[in-house]
Amino acid sequence: MNQPIVSEILTLFNTNGGSMYGGEDVTQLEHALQAATLAKENNASDALVTAALLHDIGHLLHDLPDDASDKGIDDVHEALAAKYLETYFVPAVVEPVKLHVAAKRYLCAVDQHYYDTLSAPSKTSLTFQGGVMSETEVAEFELNPFFKDAVTLRKWDDIAKDPEVKTEAVEFFVSMIQNSLK
Ligand SMILES: [Fe+2]
Repeated sequence: MNQPIVSEILTLFNTNGGSMYGGEDVTQLEHALQAATLAKENNASDALVTAALLHDIGHLLHDLPDDASDKGIDDVHEALAAKYLETYFVPAVVEPVKLHVAAKRYLCAVDQHYYDTLSAPSKTSLTFQGGVMSETEVAEFELNPFFKDAVTLRKWDDIAKDPEVKTEAVEFFVSMIQNSLK
């Protein structure tokens, strides 16, 4: 028997996961599964696989349109997700999820090639997510014990957008989700 929160997450993916991943060629569910699969393939901990799977769950928790970011609306999905997850999950899940947008701003500051690798929608959303981090923000970000996990997650996030990639179904990840509960 799944814990109620696990059943709730599966239901969320199954009911809202078919919406498009803002301006990309994959659905929210495909994006989540591709990110989690990359984490698993890279031997990430169960918590980081779970974070990869759930990093954009905030997009499934609001009623804004799929292309909100094209319209210049920041849905603050990372904060929404963290608030939703923190009741149930260990910080090793919650913190990388909370920081995955900041990690994009961070990577743009510390890696001059990174910005060029971003997709057009991701470049658009960067501007209203706060833009490239300042030196002070970079230093502050690096103080967070989970900043490296957030950066790693971000890199999987950025490539988990391939309409040709096939993955396991979400149920494959249930044991990893269970292992990451508080
Ligand atoms: Fe994402």
